[in-house]
Amino acid sequence: MTKLVVIGSSSIDLVVTAHKRPEKGETILGESFKTVPGGKGANQAVAAARLGADVYMVGCVGQDDFGRTILENFKKNGVNTEYMEPVTDIETGTAHITLAEGDNSIIVVQGANKYVSPDYIEKAMDVFDNADMVLIQQEIPAETVEYVAEICNEKGIPLLLNPAPSRPVSQAVIEKATYITPNETEAAVLFAGENAKEAMKKYHNKVFITEGSKGVRFHDGQKEVLVPSYKVEAVDTTGAGDTFNAAFAVALSEGKSIQDSIQFANRAASLSVTKFGAQGGMPTRAEVEGSL
Ligand code: RIB
Repeated sequence: MTKLVVIGSSSIDLVVTAHKRPEKGETILGESFKTVPGGKGANQAVAAARLGADVYMVGCVGQDDFGRTILENFKKNGVNTEYMEPVTDIETGTAHITLAEGDNSIIVVQGANKYVSPDYIEKAMDVFDNADMVLIQQEIPAETVEYVAEICNEKGIPLLLNPAPSRPVSQAVIEKATYITPNETEAAVLFAGENAKEAMKKYHNKVFITEGSKGVRFHDGQKEVLVPSYKVEAVDTTGAGDTFNAAFAVALSEGKSIQDSIQFANRAASLSVTKFGAQGGMPTRAEVEGSL
């Protein structure tokens, strides 16, 4: 079993479904409202655990009902919570999601996720012992991403950076990360002023651009490759990227080739969108293998 460490956000998703998004200043009637566990870090941890990895989540929640729900959900999914800290004086992170017209729009309020700081990582240092890979995203402070990149680099642990949501990333982090998985918008910010295709070539076998229903594009050192996604009837695309990242990390850390890992991850991501909620459709190992 491979050991994966996920450093990132844990939130509760407040999800409204409606037939359309309201215009500025407009009020409309929605169809439903649900609260479900989310946050990019937590989603990646749960997805990886369902796929059979030994997962350690490093993050913070508030001392409130949402925080308790998140911790229970980790336990239910077999994610180790030894390095999760309930913090006082701040609420658990929330994501305010509108599902309308076949896609989502999300506003994230970081809350306790802001406390996933370099000082906090310092206290959790032994989580890196025997880690096969570390996964990190950008709903936590940028200094933490810098710090974790440095640690992984020093310790020789592969680091997968999912640069979502979009924000500029330092050259040092780009150099130190082993794998970087932006979508097209995030790639444009990551390589601002550069041509994304050229950047992909320069960082061959390192930068993987996720292009939604088209698939995942990367450069293998010789040529550009597009690994197509699987076509499914999507119910809710929230968390598809997280499922992709987790499954990609699981497959790579088990020693699968890049191409096979992307295929495995594309399959997992395609299954994840067939049910409601970021984690609702995240498949088990048997479900992915049975459908490949
Ligand atoms: O990637 C999907 C996640 O992004 C949601 O679960 C939500 O929490 C937002 O952070």
